[in-house]
Amino acid sequence: MKQILIVEVSPRTGVSASRKVTEKLSARLRSEFPDAKLAHRDLAIDKMPHLDDSMLKAISAKDPAEIQANKASGRLSDELIDELLASDLLVIATPMWNFGIPSLLKAWIDLVVRAGKTFNYTETGVQGLAKEKKAILIIASGGVFSDGPWKAWDFVEPYLRQILKFIGIEDVQTVRVEGLNIPPLAGVAIPNAEVAVEQLIL
Ligand SMILES: Cc1cc2nc3c(=O)[nH]c(=O)nc-3n(C[C@H](O)[C@H](O)[C@H](O)COP(=O)(O)O)c2cc1C
Repeated sequence: MKQILIVEVSPRTGVSASRKVTEKLSARLRSEFPDAKLAHRDLAIDKMPHLDDSMLKAISAKDPAEIQANKASGRLSDELIDELLASDLLVIATPMWNFGIPSLLKAWIDLVVRAGKTFNYTETGVQGLAKEKKAILIIASGGVFSDGPWKAWDFVEPYLRQILKFIGIEDVQTVRVEGLNIPPLAGVAIPNAEVAVEQLIL
């Protein structure tokens, strides 16, 4: 393992459940892979811009002159993609907000899922270019979504698994920190997730 990329999302620094469980995972990663570089993207601090006209031209134009003219606008996307492609393991730690991912994370995804860089359209379909990587998702939520009546409302894990598969990352494990707003579960959600972290196959 040469590099591990940890993407954190929650702005609730100090009290965030997803961050607390990520700390536990980081400690395990540091102990099991002492030589690996831990790259850290904190999207609550390092906020990603939404794609604008110039950025779209930089990342999707076909005309070389147009690409050149907008090169500077594509630099952040280039940098984030290089960081992702250089990593063997991607950790995404995120809260569920309104049944989906926070737009902070969606903005990062919009910058890294890019034709010709992380996926290609081929005659036989889409080819993911982020090969031989693993991912771990740490998902915190007030309710319970891993099973039961609210499972169908979960647009976090299915979406993240699908978009990672699209770019070639199919080995994905999930740790749920769930039931944080349900009194009987709230007290055990983090300890249970920490046990799940110990059981992850690294
Ligand atoms: C804006 C917002 C929207 C939320 N939407 C949901 C939701 O749709 N479903 C849910 O179960 N919990 C929801 N929650 C609760 C969070 O998922 C929960 O507080 C979780 O702990 C957040 O992760 P964090 O502690 O890492 O910030 C929401 C919280 C906020 C602040």
